[in-house]
Amino acid sequence: MKRGPTVLMVITAILFTLCGGVAGASSRWGKDYFPNTEVITQDGQKVHFYDDLIKGKIVLISFIFTSCTDLCPLTTARITQIVERIQDQIGKKIFVISITVDPENDTPEKLKTFADAFYKGPGWTFITGKPDEIRAINSKLGNKSDVATDHRNEIVLGNDSTGEWARNSPFADIENIELAIRDMDPAWREAYFAPATVLAPATANYQGLKVEREPGQILFKKICAPCHTVGVGDRIGPDLLDVTTRRDQQWLQRMIINPAKLRAEKDPTLAALDAKFKGVRMPNLGMSPTDTADLISYLSKISAEIADLRAQPEATHVHHHEDATAHHDHGSMDAKP
Ligand code: HEC
Repeated sequence: MKRGPTVLMVITAILFTLCGGVAGASSRWGKDYFPNTEVITQDGQKVHFYDDLIKGKIVLISFIFTSCTDLCPLTTARITQIVERIQDQIGKKIFVISITVDPENDTPEKLKTFADAFYKGPGWTFITGKPDEIRAINSKLGNKSDVATDHRNEIVLGNDSTGEWARNSPFADIENIELAIRDMDPAWREAYFAPATVLAPATANYQGLKVEREPGQILFKKICAPCHTVGVGDRIGPDLLDVTTRRDQQWLQRMIINPAKLRAEKDPTLAALDAKFKGVRMPNLGMSPTDTADLISYLSKISAEIADLRAQPEATHVHHHEDATAHHDHGSMDAKP
């Protein structure tokens, strides 16, 4: 039933080849390179691809299709994490463009429902349009396959003003992708690498991650945290605090291993969740029974830890479980001189 490698294998392969950030050669693409054809946004607006979306901008481009049940919801959720960290620039200098690889089926309405599940704010445009023209744009960005499920799980970063373009992986460390996109801005580069700020602890917030502590924690941070928090509220998916006590153990295993199967069986619990979380479905992420056991053990432990913390007097609960929640509201990397 499943074509090709599992999601986890894909992610692992990407991580191996891209380990640590910017990858691939940059090239000089500009006005004469990109089609300037008319495309349609998730809001039904007609815009010109080059003039309105690329010209003079710094962009992060991703490739999606809304009926995708494995990687695209995860890559899109990872981009949400990036967007949350570049709030100072998103819609100003930096713009995100998600291009459908399935223009026959992805209407603006479908794109809108999908888009709203991940981000509601300025600076992120989802586009579809005439199939041939959308395919021509995809092809210019290195996405040449005609089959939606074969599309590349890469993102493209570029600055039209400087002509710098590069490929990156949505599965690289979020902080590295953030740096890579900010690095497309010469003004930021200058400020960030100025002698006075070189020692600024821009990533200090992320060094305390005790990721080795639990095998389930590493998986959670990489694969689940883009959509879920533990104890910080619903995100793209539900808050998983106490989910191990709220739900039946076997149901939980099945939900993590193969939510699509559970959905096909019209499981009532999942149907209720589907009704609440519109536009996005928990993807099949290729978790093995061992991965799943690790994840459940981690979720159970972190929930207990949070319960303990909450039972303690006020003063002690300072951002203790941030890595587990991946709710990086402190993501400011602005290196002020
Ligand atoms: C792309 C977003 C996304 C990713 C990635 C994701 N989930 Fe989900 N998850 C959801 C959504 C959305 C739901 C709500 C059910 C639905 O509509 O599919 C959900 C539901 C769940 C539930 C049921 C929650 C409840 O209240 O009963 C569990 C458990 C869960 N996810 C665990 C995980 C784990 C573990 C991972 C990582 C291996 C993960 N999810 C990755 C989006 C995601």
